[in-house]
Amino acid sequence: MKYKKPKIFILESNIKQIIRDNPSKSDYKMDNIIEKIKKIVKIEFDKADIKFHKEPYYYIYHILPAYNISIGLAKRYNANKEIVAISILLHDIGLINLDKGKEHDEAGVKKSKKILKDIGLNDKKIKEILHCIRYHDARDKNPLSIEGKIVCTADALSHIVTPWYIIKGRNSRKNNKDIIKWLSKKLNKDFNRIQFEEIKEEINPIYKNWKIILNGNN
Ligand SMILES: [Fe+2]
Repeated sequence: MKYKKPKIFILESNIKQIIRDNPSKSDYKMDNIIEKIKKIVKIEFDKADIKFHKEPYYYIYHILPAYNISIGLAKRYNANKEIVAISILLHDIGLINLDKGKEHDEAGVKKSKKILKDIGLNDKKIKEILHCIRYHDARDKNPLSIEGKIVCTADALSHIVTPWYIIKGRNSRKNNKDIIKWLSKKLNKDFNRIQFEEIKEEINPIYKNWKIILNGNN
């Protein structure tokens, strides 16, 4: 069966709510490096998805929405758009072929370092990007830079404001009870790693709705 690229129209209104105004065309006018990284990341995830789930989904349903959100946040918080864009594209690359017992943020740092060096990015930028990738999950420590906070927040928001939980649940091969339990935990973790209090407030109605759907009205 031929894979048809889905439209992610649902994102438009949800993203608008978060980033307050639409990124203009010039916000997306990135240089060749970002375009190159986009291609690398898409190819890597599509290959991995086909191998595990028979259809590519990770790039289109997660990386791309997270990327769009991060560009909006970079504009809103006056952050370095290039650092944010490259970091969000690469943030989950460590998930691909991850060895058992290893952390995807650390594996992502290793893989990204190689990609960025091969591309010829300078050491200062590489260091800033690797910080964003290492702490995007806020697993053991919150990110320190504004770009890192944006990548972490955009990752969390991309789960909350898109159909991601449904798609991820469907691909998890868990039974329904376990999927709901897992999603409930994941939802709380995502909400808690939003790095900006005002965004937490803005997103609260959607978060509450997910909570009610998953846990009932208690
Ligand atoms: Fe992610």
